[in-house]
Parts: sequence; C-alpha cells; structure tokens
Amino acid sequence: MSALTITTADGQTLETLRDGAAIGAALGELGVQFEQWEANAPLAADADQEAVLAAYADDVERLNAQYGFQSVDVVALGPDHPQKAEMRQKFLAEHTHADFEVRFFVDGSGLFYLHVGDKVYMMLCEKGDLISVPANTTHWFDMGEHPNFKCIRFFTTPDGWVGNFTGSDIATRFPDFDAYRASL
Ligand SMILES: [Fe+2]
Repeated sequence: MSALTITTADGQTLETLRDGAAIGAALGELGVQFEQWEANAPLAADADQEAVLAAYADDVERLNAQYGFQSVDVVALGPDHPQKAEMRQKFLAEHTHADFEVRFFVDGSGLFYLHVGDKVYMMLCEKGDLISVPANTTHWFDMGEHPNFKCIRFFTTPDGWVGNFTGSDIATRFPDFDAYRASL
C-alpha cells in the first residue's frame, strides 16, 4: 500500500500518511504531483508497452497535454535481472535533474526520498501511483534488493535520465526500501 513518511533531515519520523488524497495534498505543497490512476481495462502482468499505454491512455494523454512530453516509454525490472545491484546503485545517492522526473507505477513498487528544506519525504509508490518530482528537487530512489516494478516514464527532453549528484551522504542515514517497507 502506498505510504508517505515525513521525517526531519536527521531521520526522526513526524508522520506517516497512507490515504492517497492526503499524500497528494502533502506532496502538492512541495510542487510534487501525486495521483492514483486506474487502468481502463484489465492488464496482463506481461503486457507490452503498447498495451500498457493503451490501458492508461486517458491519463497519459491528459498528462501529455499538460506538459508536452517528448517521449513516453515503459520500463520493467524484476528480481532476476543480472544487473539489478548496479541499477539500484545508480539512483541511491542524492541528486537532482534539470528535467522533472515523472513516473507511473503500472506494477510493483519503489521508494522515492525527497529532501526539501529541513525535511525528508519517503514516498513508497505502488501500483497505480503517479509521481512527478520537480526539476532541481534533491532526491534519491531505492528499488530494494529484489527490485520489482514496471513504470511508465515521461520525458520532456530527448536526453533521458541525467542525474546531477549533490555529493551528500544523507541517503546512507535513511532506511532503505526493504527496511522501510518492513517498518510499515
Ligand atoms: Fe532522480
């Protein structure tokens, strides 16, 4: 189940929200767009990109009209992927992007950490969750030791994913995906 835990920058928990509307309101204050989508039709677990985009066509088109994305694709990562450890590592340190990071979870889950002011927002995204992290917002992401997700990614630039690392070790002081999930 989706959850948002707000902590101080040194990791003391302030509150945990589980209601989608409450999560959307709390993240909205940071300029982070959070929505929960339902598929137009049942979707097989092994649905390809075309079928996934068709199942969420209404919401994808609405978001496209809002932002004018240059590219939209579907990526999936499972626990059997031989490069899962390297792929996990890539997103684990605090970074920003010049483009905003927009992800919709078709399946599986992932944990976004947003570091805004003197707080950290741990957002566990699950199936049906859309999150948009604004440009230049410091954040990191953990997919866990056994990653399992299928996501629609939206890009406004043709460059794809480019991370600017802050050099901060703040991420090492927070529970990882597996520890956070176990704590809920
Ligand atoms: Fe990122």
